[in-house]
Amino acid sequence: MKILIMKKNNKNNIKKQFPIFKQKINGNPLIYLDSAATTQKPQDVIDCIEDYYSKYNSNIHRSAHQLARKATEKWIEAHEIIADFLNAKSYKEIIFLRNCTEGINLFVNTYGKQNLKKGDYVIISEMEHHSNIVPWQILQKEIDFNIEYIPINSEYRLDLDWLKKRADELKDKLKIISVVHISNVLGTVNDIKEITSIAHSVGAVSLVDAAQSVARLKIDVQNIDCDALVFSGHKIYGPTGSGAIYVKEKILEKMPPYMGGGEMIREVHKDSFSLNELPWRYEAGTPNIADGIALGEAIEWFNKTVTDLGGYERLVEHEKSLINRFLSNFEEMEWFKLFGSKERLGVITFNIDGFSFSGCKKGTVESNKYGEEIINFLSSKGLCIRDGFHCAQPLHERFDKGPTLRVSLGIYSDEADIDRAVKLIKEGVLRVM
Ligand code: ALA
Repeated sequence: MKILIMKKNNKNNIKKQFPIFKQKINGNPLIYLDSAATTQKPQDVIDCIEDYYSKYNSNIHRSAHQLARKATEKWIEAHEIIADFLNAKSYKEIIFLRNCTEGINLFVNTYGKQNLKKGDYVIISEMEHHSNIVPWQILQKEIDFNIEYIPINSEYRLDLDWLKKRADELKDKLKIISVVHISNVLGTVNDIKEITSIAHSVGAVSLVDAAQSVARLKIDVQNIDCDALVFSGHKIYGPTGSGAIYVKEKILEKMPPYMGGGEMIREVHKDSFSLNELPWRYEAGTPNIADGIALGEAIEWFNKTVTDLGGYERLVEHEKSLINRFLSNFEEMEWFKLFGSKERLGVITFNIDGFSFSGCKKGTVESNKYGEEIINFLSSKGLCIRDGFHCAQPLHERFDKGPTLRVSLGIYSDEADIDRAVKLIKEGVLRVM
């Protein structure tokens, strides 16, 4: 009993660490259910950024003065924190960049460009974010390799039997499998360990988009054995403009450089240059120092908060109970159309029958009333949810859907948020029906 009370208190304390929740929106509490788009930031992370700019702002890896030394130490330390967090073998396997998108683009334009040739295959999936589709499509125009999509089955899961069969058929023509760990629309958790093992069975490599999973599942890159993995800092309570790609050192050693200039160089002469050590070789120019250091702080904050909650299992359990609480409130509502299975993490995506939302091509469904009125109502009451394609238009098209509404959770989300969201959504729909 004592333990339960302690954990409940801890949970309530989480929200208090986020200053943004102190405000009222038109006299209403802020109900932030858009954490899949970006999470809010705890005071520790905000303080860390202020600390950098007010106490030791300086460039890294360059000058030898005190401030520069401290900034450089903190930058390296942040890489070590991320390496530990992902269970990478060394910080040399961690490259800091702005977000997942930049990480995928880096991999596509280095490893991809170096290893793909005309007629080869890259396999992604039908539930990918645009960031894991478009960079491949851009490179495809140059190299003329094939892109195939792992189909989604009737349970909204990836069809891994199809993948196994296709890998066996393609053999060494299959070079890369690149998939999302948790879909930002369906909330499906993909078996990335199995997908990686299928890739390896034919000598291909795997790239994992951990944008939505990094803040709710324990990531262990050595256990998964993936060759590369990307995540954005802003989706794990860190600053925007921060994130990392993990790549196995043996692959990084052979990969060509990405951008030239600054810290990626060891020596430059009129007719040549030599590369710096890993990971700095891939961090050209002055990076986002404050936010990279604050990403380290965010990960430390997250680790501690998950431990206080009782571990990742407890975090997942809490999230599932919030999802069930939300869904059970709409069971009787015929107008509520869930997109995906009830078995999901992080996001609840749905449509309201008869309404269309932002991003809908005007006039496609004549009888639909425009959902903007509902969104405006929810927003005026302090509820933040997302409407649109969530950067996954091919997934919506696959299921013949227009844009959807999405409620997404963060570590600070609680029952009161869900209850208020349910009440407001019902009220918003009744007002315009
Ligand atoms: N990929 C982010 C989302 O799902 C922006 O909202």
